[in-house]
Amino acid sequence: MQKFPLAVIGAGVIGRTHIERMLAMPEFDLVGVAEPSAAGQQWCQAKGLAVFATHTELLNTTRPQGVVIATPNASHVSVAADCMAQGIAVLIEKPVADTLAAAEHLIQLEKETGVPVLVGHHRRHNPILQRARQIIDEGRLGHVVHAHVMANFYKPTAYFDVAWRRQKGGGPVLINLIHDIDMLVYLLGEVRAVQAHSSNTVRGFEVEDSASALLEFSCGTQAVMTVSDTTVSPWCWDLCAGEQSQYPRQAVASHYLAGTHGALSLPDLALWQYTGERHWHHELQCAQSRVHETDVYVQQLRHFRAVAERQDPPLCSSLEAWRTLQATQALVQAAQTGQRQICPAFSA
Ligand SMILES: NC(=O)c1ccc[n+]([C@@H]2O[C@H](COP(=O)([O-])OP(=O)(O)OC[C@H]3O[C@@H](n4cnc5c(N)ncnc54)[C@H](O)[C@@H]3O)[C@@H](O)[C@H]2O)c1
Repeated sequence: MQKFPLAVIGAGVIGRTHIERMLAMPEFDLVGVAEPSAAGQQWCQAKGLAVFATHTELLNTTRPQGVVIATPNASHVSVAADCMAQGIAVLIEKPVADTLAAAEHLIQLEKETGVPVLVGHHRRHNPILQRARQIIDEGRLGHVVHAHVMANFYKPTAYFDVAWRRQKGGGPVLINLIHDIDMLVYLLGEVRAVQAHSSNTVRGFEVEDSASALLEFSCGTQAVMTVSDTTVSPWCWDLCAGEQSQYPRQAVASHYLAGTHGALSLPDLALWQYTGERHWHHELQCAQSRVHETDVYVQQLRHFRAVAERQDPPLCSSLEAWRTLQATQALVQAAQTGQRQICPAFSA
């Protein structure tokens, strides 16, 4: 297989995760990295990588066929536009943009240029989630009435030494819960309306440390979600799905779906059903699916190549990422106003 020339823009926390994976994958040729900070440049140079201060220098010098954009949220769409103007496919980190208007601009650019776009909601590449979607699509839960999602974990005090993590927009809703919202959008479709409450009672920062929400999906499912970065708890996807080695894995579930014909918990993929008549006096049977677990970031990069080469449609398109963003922003808005928010796609 011919090597695929890739570049990375932004060598921060997640940019380095992508770089490490690419360097270990023989099918990729990492042609260069754009990174303005001295510390990031030194990190790249220590790996023997060609590093440029701006993405325009990177694009003009190295001519990649695909680029991973791992810069701060507000720059995602403008950087992507520069890549797409040169016909270069983009894998944009989540959230797709900092505003819905910017995400809509990206959708328009994709239509105009025909350049493929994949958004980095990486959990969609997890075989556990793909199996869950198959179980739901096969109708084995019947109509999914409820989803319960817990994203409860503890971030250490030092995490908050960085100012933006204490300020509005830097909290666990936009950083963490957006991943769980995207999982539900992937499994259940679009969110129609949201009610929410958030609190900063424990840490006392400007930003929330905890939030609870009720999401109504257009398919009729109601989802209850909690997130907190100040709870000592194993009940969150990062701690129980085993996607990243820095989180010691716990044998518990964080996501629960209950339908008219069955119930499913994740990530353990335990499916509960009656074999005969559905009746709460009867014995429930539990069957657990096994999937071959893989590195989701590796899977995502492989998929990105197929998207860039126009062999596969994106597993998370700019429109899908817009859907996740609109639900997440509606949640933030609902918590701020105390009012139920109808998502823009349903408010006309
Ligand atoms: N999918 C995931 O699991 C995941 C995890 C963490 C972060 N993210 C997302 O990735 C993005 C980056 O987050 P992070 O935690 O890595 O942030 P970070 O601050 O650690 O890294 C961002 C890097 O981009 C660089 N940068 C800024 N502007 C640039 C530009 N115009 N061109 C090139 N480089 C530029 C910065 O110097 C910095 O090194 C955010 O959108 C975040 O939401 C995704």
